[in-house]
Amino acid sequence: MNNHDQLKLTDMNYDKDRPVAENPLKIEDLTFRDGHQSLFATRGRTEDMIPIAEMMDEVGFWAFETWGGATFDTMHRFLNEDPWERIRTLKRYIKKTPFSMLLRAQNLVGYRNYADDVAKAFVERACENGMDIFRTFDALNDFRNFETVVPVIKEHGKHFQGCICYSMTEPRMGGEVYNLDYYVSKAKDLEAMGADSVCIKDMAGLIAPYDAYQVVKALKAAVKVPIHLHSHFTSGMAPMSQLKAIEAGVDIVDTCMSPYAYRTSHPAIEPLVMTLLGTNRDTGFDIRHLAHINEILEREIMPKYRHLLDDSKVSIIDINVLLHQTPGGMLSNLVNQLREMDALDKIDAVYHELPRVRKELGQVPLVTPTSQIVGIQTVNNVLFDDENERYKMITDQVKDLVYGLYGKTAVPIDPEVQKKALKGYERGEEPITCRPAEVLEPELPKAQEEVKGLAVDMDDVLIYALYPVTGKRFLKWKYGKEEPPAEVRPRTLADVKAEEELVRKAKAGELVEKPKKEAPPKSDALRTFNVFVDGDYFEVGVDEVGGSPVLNYIQQMPTQTPLQMPAPMPAAPVAPAPAAAPAPAPEPPAAAAPEKAPAAAPTAAAEGKQMLAPMPGMIVRYEKEVGDEVSEGETVVVLEAMKMENALPAPVSGTIKEIGFSTGDSVAKNDVLCVIG
Ligand code: CO
Repeated sequence: MNNHDQLKLTDMNYDKDRPVAENPLKIEDLTFRDGHQSLFATRGRTEDMIPIAEMMDEVGFWAFETWGGATFDTMHRFLNEDPWERIRTLKRYIKKTPFSMLLRAQNLVGYRNYADDVAKAFVERACENGMDIFRTFDALNDFRNFETVVPVIKEHGKHFQGCICYSMTEPRMGGEVYNLDYYVSKAKDLEAMGADSVCIKDMAGLIAPYDAYQVVKALKAAVKVPIHLHSHFTSGMAPMSQLKAIEAGVDIVDTCMSPYAYRTSHPAIEPLVMTLLGTNRDTGFDIRHLAHINEILEREIMPKYRHLLDDSKVSIIDINVLLHQTPGGMLSNLVNQLREMDALDKIDAVYHELPRVRKELGQVPLVTPTSQIVGIQTVNNVLFDDENERYKMITDQVKDLVYGLYGKTAVPIDPEVQKKALKGYERGEEPITCRPAEVLEPELPKAQEEVKGLAVDMDDVLIYALYPVTGKRFLKWKYGKEEPPAEVRPRTLADVKAEEELVRKAKAGELVEKPKKEAPPKSDALRTFNVFVDGDYFEVGVDEVGGSPVLNYIQQMPTQTPLQMPAPMPAAPVAPAPAAAPAPAPEPPAAAAPEKAPAAAPTAAAEGKQMLAPMPGMIVRYEKEVGDEVSEGETVVVLEAMKMENALPAPVSGTIKEIGFSTGDSVAKNDVLCVIG
């Protein structure tokens, strides 16, 4: 790193005098995946990657991360985009740079371990759709969870990058669990499994510069394959850690284009290019070319996403991460969850409870999905426990974790918590110790059967197998069997401009309320027309005044609700009106809906104990039907909140009288899920 003296850096001799580095640092760009996942909840759309794709291909990156992580979930759920199609589309524009994906090992791109048949099919389809590098990690660093996917990656001649999730229990590396020996032995395990490279996956930006130096030095000495460092800027340490890792000989690091960098994302590429310019690790990248790409991102792409950036704080670093050794994304999830439940004042209690829950659940690394599992259980404990009882509401995922369904935890799970969680657990009260997927029955045949007639190919089946509820809904959108809702449509630059114009006008005081005009009385000549504009329907009345037709009222019709005109008020009632005054709600005919509740008393609705949603979420399924008997504590409905499934128990024993929602419905806190009488 000492030949920078030779450089006379002016615009003119920038290229001419730039020596070729002996050992250029390789860079993986994360703009297309982790960048937007970190900064704006993975909402980046394929159409917004295309404008820079070919230029990015010219930079000389070692790889692009284009897929995996939360993309698969977000795309089909919120963007109405086929996740498989993204790989194929980007491949048409990016011909040279290999594609990398983040694979959650046996969790694939979901939040639980899938059966081996699904795991194999998924990796096979990812290979065939064009994925080149599989950055594979397991949230517990239990590499038995790699045993199914790695052979498929290898058979297809693809690059298996083995990850070690970087975790800590102390302010700096060390302590009883996550010390230097831990990382060295994990790296050796990965090399023995055939890893083509080893990645230190610091998903929370926890790695401190001098720890990064130590780890990379130790790993370089222990294994032969290239060492890769993935870190997040969140805490502010990542650029320093990157530099120390480079000094220790790291082979590959991860960056983003600067508009997608920093905050909870990654260090930017541009400062690194200048930092290494003329040294023996010079990237060789043309900074003017990068600047050109940035211009396009700033001008054409970022405005569409700016509203998704978290601008609640001025500071771009989160020192809470330094204080709690916890991923920033997980912290923001906790804050969101508390906010949705009107309990933001409990955040300090959550910070206090978090390390305790984590330790009781086996001191697991905090990464998807364990970060959610630990985080949501922590919130549940803070909200629902009292001084007499802890773990009053245990999520299904915690039960699975405690049972061993995610793998082996770093330290044993607290026996008390284990006993409580597994009481009545459907798979058994005795935890397993084998490779988790060994207890999972094949899932593919059932999935294929369930989407018969809807899924066209294996890619479709896998969308459903991974995400049954939202996956099926997406397939209906995809094949035109259901109209996608307006909120999944992309935001255009025109939308952004219109909004900015409104804001500008409001700030300039140019937005004035329209004075309400009294409608003139309607004449007998009034004619009404139905007018259809796109999806909207208006009833327009035309009344001729002074020889020319004048529009005198426009009534927008609420979708599917019949327009109810208020009954004309009698001018002056002579006699007191009889009891008919309040319009009675139309009573359903006695014989209506015989297929529903045939024998039950038709007027019993809403009598009994209401079971309320304890949190906002989505109905995964009801385990009971109207008319079923339930006993107190028995699961009635499974509610997905913050991606965790919560089995909600009956508050009382009785009969299900009424069910308020069905699978896939969103519910708000305190919505009536069912009535038990
Ligand atoms: Co990351």
